[in-house]
Amino acid sequence: MKFETKAIRLQTETTQHREHSTPLFPTSSFLFEDAEQMRAIFANEQEGNIYSRFTNPNCREFELKMAALEETEDAVSMASGMSAVLSTFLSFLQQGDHILASKAIFGSTYQVILNWLPRWGITHTFVDANNIDSWSESVQANTKMLFVETPSNPGLDIVDLEKAGAFAKTNDLIFAVDNCFATPYLQQPARFGADLVSHSATKFIDGQGRVLGGVVCGNKELIAEIRRFGRNTGPTLSTFNAWILSKSLETLHVRMDRHCTNALALAERLSQHPQISKVNYPFLQSHPSHQIAKNQMKQGGGLVTFELKDGLRAGQHLLNHIKMCSLSANIGDTRTIVTHPASTTHARLTGEARQAVSITDGLIRVSVGLEHIDDIVADIEQAIQ
Ligand SMILES: Cc1ncc(COP(=O)(O)O)c(C=O)c1O
Repeated sequence: MKFETKAIRLQTETTQHREHSTPLFPTSSFLFEDAEQMRAIFANEQEGNIYSRFTNPNCREFELKMAALEETEDAVSMASGMSAVLSTFLSFLQQGDHILASKAIFGSTYQVILNWLPRWGITHTFVDANNIDSWSESVQANTKMLFVETPSNPGLDIVDLEKAGAFAKTNDLIFAVDNCFATPYLQQPARFGADLVSHSATKFIDGQGRVLGGVVCGNKELIAEIRRFGRNTGPTLSTFNAWILSKSLETLHVRMDRHCTNALALAERLSQHPQISKVNYPFLQSHPSHQIAKNQMKQGGGLVTFELKDGLRAGQHLLNHIKMCSLSANIGDTRTIVTHPASTTHARLTGEARQAVSITDGLIRVSVGLEHIDDIVADIEQAIQ
């Protein structure tokens, strides 16, 4: 089956009621027919639900669909994108290990690597997403994992997945990719050698700003280890959120097509604006990694950033004059969302640290929604004016 068909047609088995759409299974635990069945399921000799922290039909449907869309053997759902990232780290890294991670990653992931992993004796080196040739210098005897995000939040840096995959293989590293900005519709990192692909399902997978969720996709053995971690420690997905997210996958391709055409149109339009010094969008020819993006992504994604000539104050001023778009901390919604990272999400970083991850003072991030493109452009242009 093609991507679109899998996203719609893969479904958990129908119940005796012959429903068309998968029902919600709000139950904490499941019944066993007898002691033998209970023993066999607990012993993993037989597949079956036990308790909703471990598995649930709604979570399993979402997981199997995500695995099919990412073209991996299996997947495990998590309560949020950050629980997917943390579970990826803690399932495979232990005291004395070292992780290589791209500098250009989501702020909370950066904080986990910088401030939390060292508490458990796990060290790190942040590497330049745009210079894979320099990564070898940072590999140590105890390096276990390579973690990258592409396109990155919010700088839209692109990591060459083919080159990064080859690097991970040569150095015998677990290659983990945060694929949140692209979604499996635009990019499938496993094709380039990624062992683990994680998502904040909160973003484009839900796509309507309703629920938090996360997922990690990979081969059966690696996913079994993360599942064991989740089962023991508890950061797993709620049944209700899984039901929402699985249903949302049915429209992912249609939504992503429109996010991408709107984003490209906005990026092209803003590139002409006299008060803007730079527009960043992976499918604009001016993007420094345009060719790499074209090689590994189907379209450029739903995020556009641009640089106002007048810096920090102009950024805040723009936000104050937005009329239709939302000022909100999320991305990947039907509604266009505008943020100014330097005065909000990244305000606690020094100017130098912000520069290192491509966040300049006048940078505006737009998560381009599904409204009519003329209305999106008009709102942003009048706010700049
Ligand atoms: C790239 C990326 N990864 C992970 C996360 C964390 O996701 P969540 O908010 O679902 O925990 C985010 C959130 O913005 C993100 O942008």
